[in-house]
Amino acid sequence: MNTFEVYKLYPIAIESAKGMELTDTEGKKYLDLYGGHGVISIGHCQEDYVKEVSAQLNKIGFYSNSVRIPMQDELGAKLQQISGYNDYKLFLVNSGAEANENALKLASFYTNRSKVISFKGAFHGRTSLAVAVTDSPAIQAPINKTDKVLWAELNNIESVKQLMDSDVAAVIIEGIQGVGGVKIPTTEFLKQLRQLCDQNGSLLIIDEIQSGYGRTGKFYAHQHSGIKADIISMAKGIANGFPVGAIMINPKIPAKFGMLGTTFGGNHLGCAAALATVDVMLKNNYVANAAAMGEYLFGKLKGHKAIKDLRGEGLMVGIETIADASEIRNRLLFDEHIFTGFSGGVNTIRLIPPLCITEKEIDRFVEAFDKVTK
Ligand SMILES: Cc1ncc(COP(=O)(O)O)c(C=O)c1O
Repeated sequence: MNTFEVYKLYPIAIESAKGMELTDTEGKKYLDLYGGHGVISIGHCQEDYVKEVSAQLNKIGFYSNSVRIPMQDELGAKLQQISGYNDYKLFLVNSGAEANENALKLASFYTNRSKVISFKGAFHGRTSLAVAVTDSPAIQAPINKTDKVLWAELNNIESVKQLMDSDVAAVIIEGIQGVGGVKIPTTEFLKQLRQLCDQNGSLLIIDEIQSGYGRTGKFYAHQHSGIKADIISMAKGIANGFPVGAIMINPKIPAKFGMLGTTFGGNHLGCAAALATVDVMLKNNYVANAAAMGEYLFGKLKGHKAIKDLRGEGLMVGIETIADASEIRNRLLFDEHIFTGFSGGVNTIRLIPPLCITEKEIDRFVEAFDKVTK
């Protein structure tokens, strides 16, 4: 049976990887500045991670949420420590879309309301509620289209105010818009949004699936603004490649048996992968490294003659180029052997590398970028 062809594929098959480097089936080596959609947070095949996950697999890989899984509590405690959200609760799932799906459902349960405000340019995933709050009609099937989702402009509080009413359960916003082209909500906007949600009795959901988990130099991108969310969704970097998603939930929202659920979410192997990831992040100060390396990279690229606009924070970097970004990206991949990401609508190369990146790899990228944009 052939696979269902929904992905545009590069003619490259990756066979192995270590740290920041990928090796294909022909033995060609690539620098990975994309981390497979921002999933690889602590580097490929990180030693402690491999050890912990392998050991867990030899003990027990899976049992369902019908029994206590103490590793879930351990992970919750570690996440409280690293995020500073000390009293929030954790619910574990399997992907980013599922995290958002549960965040939105929970907001609706809690408020007994049915509408959501989302933003132009937003991407929140492909399951039914997640895709309904995603600003991409092409990936919404007719069954996903709904008048329950209202669309506001990023960084325009008046556009949100106009939509707020007593049936708005939540506002959902990315910590930094990723797929939309690395667009940052301003501190002032996030503060106004927080206030507006409180005044209206609506919850603020911040999607940190791409921008969170240390990527921007704080654990969550919205923490640069000093505000707190009611529900935070995570996935991607949480388990360095093992499919884990999660939401952190304000303790004011009561849990009721059966209101949320999942077969696979929070399983032993996933928890072991997430615990190993967070331990490696803490041990190596990768959040601080993301801040430092981001600064180094921005310093190198600022004022570059091939760049129209440089956006981002830490290791979430959007390089809007003057020439065709997809062409530059192809040359980076095929001539210079560097993987990068892309935001097509805004002609932007997106870098979301593993957080263990060093100056040496950044220098290699900058040299290659110079070369292909000459
Ligand atoms: C901000 C954001 N939210 C949600 C998702 C969906 O995550 P997943 O593909 O794990 O369902 C993504 C994926 O790119 C994302 O970038």
